Amino acid sequence: MEISHIKLLPLLLFFLLNSVCSTTSNPISESFVPCFSSLIHSNSTSKIILTESTSDYSLVLQSSIQNLRFLNTSTPKPHAIITPSQYSHVQAAVVCAKKDGIQIRTRSGGHDYEGLSYVSKAPFVIIDLFNLRSVDVDIENESAWVESGATLGELYYTIAQKSKIHGFPAGSCPTMGVGGHISGGGFGTIFRKYGLAADNVIDAKIVDVNGRILDRKSMGEELFWAIRGGGGSSFAVILKWKLRLVPVPPSVTVFKISQTIEQGATKLFSKWQNIADKLHEDIFLHSVVSVGNKAGANGGKTIIIEFGSLFLGPVEKLLPLMQDNFPELRLDRSNCTEMSWIESVLYFADISINESEALLRRTQQSKSFFKAKSDYVTEPISEAGLEGLWQTLIEVEAYLILTPYGGKMSEISDSETPFPHRIGNIFGIQYMVTWDDGKETEKHIGMMRRLYDYMAPYVSKSPRGAYLNYRDLDLGRNNVCNTSYGQASIWGLKYFKNNFRRLVHVKTLVDPGNFFMDEQSIPLFPSRKK
Ligand SMILES: Cc1cc2nc3c(=O)[nH]c(=O)nc-3n(C[C@H](O)[C@H](O)[C@H](O)COP(=O)(O)OP(=O)(O)OC[C@H]3O[C@@H](n4cnc5c(N)ncnc54)[C@H](O)[C@@H]3O)c2cc1C
Ligand SMILES: *[C@@H]1O[C@H](CO)[C@@H](O)[C@H](O)[C@H]1NC(C)=O
Ligand SMILES: *[C@@H]1O[C@H](CO)[C@@H](O)[C@H](O)[C@H]1NC(C)=O
Ligand SMILES: *[C@@H]1O[C@H](CO)[C@@H](O)[C@H](O)[C@H]1NC(C)=O
Ligand SMILES: *[C@@H]1O[C@H](CO)[C@@H](O)[C@H](O)[C@H]1NC(C)=O
Ligand SMILES: *[C@@H]1O[C@H](CO)[C@@H](O)[C@H](O)[C@H]1NC(C)=O
Ligand SMILES: *[C@@H]1O[C@H](CO)[C@@H](O)[C@H](O)[C@H]1NC(C)=O
Repeated sequence: MEISHIKLLPLLLFFLLNSVCSTTSNPISESFVPCFSSLIHSNSTSKIILTESTSDYSLVLQSSIQNLRFLNTSTPKPHAIITPSQYSHVQAAVVCAKKDGIQIRTRSGGHDYEGLSYVSKAPFVIIDLFNLRSVDVDIENESAWVESGATLGELYYTIAQKSKIHGFPAGSCPTMGVGGHISGGGFGTIFRKYGLAADNVIDAKIVDVNGRILDRKSMGEELFWAIRGGGGSSFAVILKWKLRLVPVPPSVTVFKISQTIEQGATKLFSKWQNIADKLHEDIFLHSVVSVGNKAGANGGKTIIIEFGSLFLGPVEKLLPLMQDNFPELRLDRSNCTEMSWIESVLYFADISINESEALLRRTQQSKSFFKAKSDYVTEPISEAGLEGLWQTLIEVEAYLILTPYGGKMSEISDSETPFPHRIGNIFGIQYMVTWDDGKETEKHIGMMRRLYDYMAPYVSKSPRGAYLNYRDLDLGRNNVCNTSYGQASIWGLKYFKNNFRRLVHVKTLVDPGNFFMDEQSIPLFPSRKK
């Protein structure tokens, strides 16, 4: 089914229009528009290039911004937003931007944690791919071509329309774009069985730095390797992916069980650390650690740990597995619900399971200011370490999502794709802090850094690993540029470990002029650096 004609939904943030759009940026460069218009051979250029004088400019700019930190009057605005409806429009944008010496930022779903898909300090244009979002599912061949501007929700929905026994292993938030998500790795509730989204890409179409459309064969295996986890924005504009669909059973089982530390959650958590990555690959059992109010009249804060699970099978098979491996959780049949795989997608997205159409909503229901960071844990954290963590979480008002690794993730070699965090990791941590008042930004970012400092002894070291899709511009922030790559070697090694050098090599080969560039794009070999 094609879903490319679904219109952008009305925007909740409409009221912000006036306050946000008063910033003036320089007028678009004299030569970009004529260059672009002459290349696209269309009289309707005005629908494809939005400038500040066009009425849709602000609406489109804001449409997919997830982090309110990058939606204010001092946020730099693009000279223009290109909204391609054909691949030739992307080609023209790349050719003309390069000719003009202006940066591009490519945006698919706009979920970048640091806003890099739509903010730049240098003069820039945005290529926003929301009109390129067809999903073509081929059940017979168990594959799908999906355009970059499609959301995960659109992808999952379209697969489920065609088959109840196929799925795709990608992330939980349905509004993410497949362009950014898959090029940065992409994990979700079935990745312990099937690996990352990027592990299940079998072909791709891209526009390269010279404006050519290439597929896997014509781009070559090195570039095809780099875009599956190395981040698309360093290498090309990805137009679409060909994905391998994976089998899912007609019925899966989910549960969520919460405990406070007063009820013994610390002991449960300690046990979880010892089994989460060793469980059968059909079980995904993550934990979410948050701050809540203590029961009783005296008040005060406590820690609540929620264990949430997806099992690829019926409840009868899950119960004995949990009884053998994690009896302390005291999982009961009454805690579990059987449902279809697509319903489990809704369940993990906190959407009512009868509302599958909600997967087609492209904008988040609510948005806030946020700052996140990530870590990998290779040894269980001691109980003393946990007690200190709980205390710190209460002080800094943050929460954690802990994702178990193991299973298929341990079978794929560290160098198979640029994503290096495979065998040896028990779980990954996402630290998250959100707030609603822009005046509190500095305070919360400071507290997040404090939490990250607290965790240093308990997480992976040399390098302290991080996940590219949880982009963090703090990484390398305090580093004196003592290496040939400067700061890049700090975040580059954290995100990619030993794959960083190979990414630099590919980058130097395919984009020697460093056109595809942002604050954390892969650098060139020093000798070639511009
Ligand atoms: C609410 C929320 C939930 C999340 N949940 C998960 C999760 O469950 N699992 C997980 O793995 N991650 C998760 N993430 C992180 C997510 O994977 C990344 O933010 C991802 O980069 C989002 O992709 P996007 O297309 O929406 O973002 P964008 O902001 O559009 O892009 C992100 C980056 O990719 C580049 N890019 C985007 N499209 C293209 C393209 N077509 N060609 C080349 N480069 C491109 C951008 O320039 C930018 O550098 C979550 C993020 C949020 C905000
Ligand atoms: C574009 O406009 C020109 C002049 O107004 C006209 O001659 C031409 O036919 C138009 N082309 C298309 C594709 O509409
Ligand atoms: C406003 O945006 C700028 C740039 O995007 C950002 O650095 C700043 O923190 C934002 N201000 C607030 C209050 O969030
Ligand atoms: C399905 O796959 C087979 C074998 O790989 C191939 O021959 C065939 O052309 C494919 N069909 C479609 C519709 O792509
Ligand atoms: C799980 O089931 C048990 C037994 O029915 C019940 O006591 C407990 O409250 C349930 N837990 C949750 C989180 O529903
Ligand atoms: C889904 O169920 C809820 C109650 O469980 C109900 O309020 C809602 O209207 C239902 N939605 C649809 C689309 O059926
Ligand atoms: C660079 O300097 C930082 C901070 O001084 C240090 O931690 C790091 O090990 C140095 N890196 C190299 C490669 O020398």
